[in-house]
Amino acid sequence: MQSALNPGGPQAELIARESGWLLGMGASVFAVTMAALAYAALHRRRAADPQSANPSIARWVAAALALTIAVLLTNVVVDMRTGRALADLPDRARPDALTIEVTGHQWWWEIEYEHADPSRRLTTANELHIPVGRPVKIELRSADVIHSFWVPGLHGKRDLIPGYSRPLWIQADHAGVFRGQCAEFCGDQHANMALLVIATAPADFARWYAAQLLPARAPADAAARVGQRVFLANACVLCHTIRGTPAGGRVAPDLTHLASRRSLAAGTLPNTPPHRRAWVLDPQGIKPGVRMPAMILPARDAEALFAYLDGLQ
Ligand code: CUA
Repeated sequence: MQSALNPGGPQAELIARESGWLLGMGASVFAVTMAALAYAALHRRRAADPQSANPSIARWVAAALALTIAVLLTNVVVDMRTGRALADLPDRARPDALTIEVTGHQWWWEIEYEHADPSRRLTTANELHIPVGRPVKIELRSADVIHSFWVPGLHGKRDLIPGYSRPLWIQADHAGVFRGQCAEFCGDQHANMALLVIATAPADFARWYAAQLLPARAPADAAARVGQRVFLANACVLCHTIRGTPAGGRVAPDLTHLASRRSLAAGTLPNTPPHRRAWVLDPQGIKPGVRMPAMILPARDAEALFAYLDGLQ
């Protein structure tokens, strides 16, 4: 599911076509070179006359040089045509394009869906849901160092540079899950900075969006109510937001619908109750250097906290 050779949309399709061309060209150059090498090995001249002049050699060298230049120039032209085609994709002009701001942090992705109506803006993390067949404009930003957004099934990579905002257009032509990965070294946990793009039918996307816009569910039972108090009384609130509660930190992922996501810590762990427990109690053991400190809690408070987090669907 993370493959540039299995394109999921028009941008990736153009890039895959160019990859095919370059592969074919490279294979041909390899075949011709090997054939020339074999020919030279089989027609070795005798050691007795190593310096004997052979006028045809100069012609062969000139021909090989001309061929090399032609191959390289052709690749430049093919590459420029792909770039032009990407820039000219007509879908960009569509008025129903979706705009999503993606901000790279060490080491996770903040995702904010833009909307003219502020009450319909949505913030989430590490999981990008998009509707099939609709162009999506992704505004790339960075909160700290240079990262690079790369979802090979949908587009090539694009850097996130602090202080700049750069758009990247993607579109999924069929439903599916496309894995992406930070593609620019950004510190200790660069390798654990992944994201998922989940493309669904427009109706499913609308349902997901409506559910995500809701504030967090109220705790379902006594244990979860205690857990919510534990969350609000500890350092969690300094970094995390849970909409519908006083927790409003903005430096770490929004947890309002934490349990609805597929992965934890930007693709580091599957998001299951046992993994959530492991993560909260020992994030440094799982992702050394991560900004999240280990939560040292009495066992009863920890159990209540997990009951609360499990309910954040
Ligand atoms: Cu972010 Cu590498």
